Amino acid sequence: MAYIELRQVSKRFGDVTAVDRLDLDIAEGECVAMLGPSGCGKTTTLRMVAGFEDLDDGEIRVGGKLLSSKREKFYLPPEQRNFGMVFQAFAVWPHLSVFENVAFPLRVRKLPKTEIIARTEEALKHTNLLSAARGSPDDLSGGGKQRVALARALAIRPDVMLLDEPLSSLDPHFREEMRFEIKDLQRRFGFSILYVTHDQSEAMALSDRILIMRAGVVQQIGTPLEVYGSPANRFVFEFIGLSCFLQAGLTSSGMQIGGMNCAWPGALAPPGALVAAGTGILAARPTEIDFVGEGGVRGTVARKAYLGETIDYRVLVGDAEVRVQKTRRVPGPAIGDSCGLNFVRPQWYPAD
Ligand SMILES: Nc1ncnc2c1ncn2[C@@H]1O[C@H](COP(=O)(O)OP(=O)(O)OP(=O)(O)O)[C@@H](O)[C@H]1O
Ligand SMILES: [Mg+2]
Repeated sequence: MAYIELRQVSKRFGDVTAVDRLDLDIAEGECVAMLGPSGCGKTTTLRMVAGFEDLDDGEIRVGGKLLSSKREKFYLPPEQRNFGMVFQAFAVWPHLSVFENVAFPLRVRKLPKTEIIARTEEALKHTNLLSAARGSPDDLSGGGKQRVALARALAIRPDVMLLDEPLSSLDPHFREEMRFEIKDLQRRFGFSILYVTHDQSEAMALSDRILIMRAGVVQQIGTPLEVYGSPANRFVFEFIGLSCFLQAGLTSSGMQIGGMNCAWPGALAPPGALVAAGTGILAARPTEIDFVGEGGVRGTVARKAYLGETIDYRVLVGDAEVRVQKTRRVPGPAIGDSCGLNFVRPQWYPAD
């Protein structure tokens, strides 16, 4: 059952529609990542859920309780929403100790002293900060400071964690480690997460579902496997993982790529609507194109680069370029060789 519900939520800034009629359901204990290019409306969405931003349209509920509604002119202020928040910038107060940083929201809520101490110590323990509790957060690394922010969010025992690129200012090494820590904390405490990121591997690793947004409009919501394996459109295909696109002229019996006549790739013919339109875009992952000796889409290897574990090929089909990646353990064609390409799982999209 949906725990967090966003219904037709919109937000405009002057002429810019930052978020356009967004529908999203998040289950209790679920982690949903919002992914998309800069300016697509991720932070604005998070701020509306948090209550820092009012809506221009739609409504938001958590656990059946109304938080914001344009129609009903209702708006619950952020401090009355039980949300933990961590942002990209290290939002720690250097003049307070690590302990006081974490205890701060509990003091604001005027909890009994013993409760404040117990909850703060618990949050510090789960973020491995107990030994640093008396020191200043300024003595900690970037990862340490983000842990303080995380502990502070945990201490309020949130129903929902709102995380806005919390790891993007960390070194890659720390980033991976912190992903696991966040996931562990979620398992232990059972809160839901709405996680904003630019980083597709972070979204894939952390979340149960991914929402991909472009210019305020949702493109697809699905499991990491769904958005990677069956992208709803060309934008999603290109945004998640490596991609290779070929403009194809289509007839009922075959296709033309880069001025060359080819058979249908693999067993998968394009949808009838594209054949009727006479043109379409063939999308493939470079790792999901195989070399075949006979048949396939015929081309010539123009470039071959060793990337360590994989070899990256550029194959010319007429004047179109196809990118293929294979493990170095499988012998492949040499530069200048003629080869056949078998598209293992092609996707078809309408031409631009
Ligand atoms: N307070 C504001 N006033 C005017 N325009 C704003 C304001 N906040 C956001 N915008 C605009 O709304 C759009 C969405 O911005 P938002 O910050 O939500 O994007 P984002 O997806 O978080 O981007 P990034 O990945 O760069 O953080 C952008 O065009 C931005 O310029
Ligand atoms: Mg942002």
